[in-house]
Amino acid sequence: MSATSAPGHLSEAIAVAAERRWAIVVGAILALLVAMMVVTGLHWAAMPPSRVETVDVKTLHLAGEFVEGNLGTAVGADGKVTVRLIAQQYSFQPQCLVVPADTPVTFRATSTDTIHGFVIGTTNANTMLVPGFVSTFTTSFRKTGEALMPCHEYCGAGHEAMWARVQVLSAADFLAKSRGVERLSCVAR
Ligand code: CUA
Repeated sequence: MSATSAPGHLSEAIAVAAERRWAIVVGAILALLVAMMVVTGLHWAAMPPSRVETVDVKTLHLAGEFVEGNLGTAVGADGKVTVRLIAQQYSFQPQCLVVPADTPVTFRATSTDTIHGFVIGTTNANTMLVPGFVSTFTTSFRKTGEALMPCHEYCGAGHEAMWARVQVLSAADFLAKSRGVERLSCVAR
């Protein structure tokens, strides 16, 4: 080895090689990230997450879709399942939701005061709730059982105590329970 004859030269060559390796790795990571940004940017621009629907916060409790009697799970004449709920500091209404498994369920929700949000257990049911706007999405639940639904947008001092429960029933159980009931929830009476 020439390490004894020219140690400075050898260590410099090793350093240059190591730097070049790092430059290649970092360059590849940057290229990958930029490619991801371009792909997701174009993809979402072509498919916006949802349309914009507004609602008047001041009259929310008095009239329209989000009055108290209309909250909870409804089964339409066409069999479509819709869950309506509102978020407020620091609770959801209803506090306990009932949904069927293996069935498309449409959520329609809004906030009465500040920005809230929710996620249901480990499912993809996840949205922000912004006052003045209706958040809506449709999803299916694969597993029956009970899930927690915490608020996931910091909304004030009571944020960490803000959560609801969701009961996912089998489609048959849900159907039996919803028969003759206009709005379904599992809030204890
Ligand atoms: Cu509501 Cu955090």
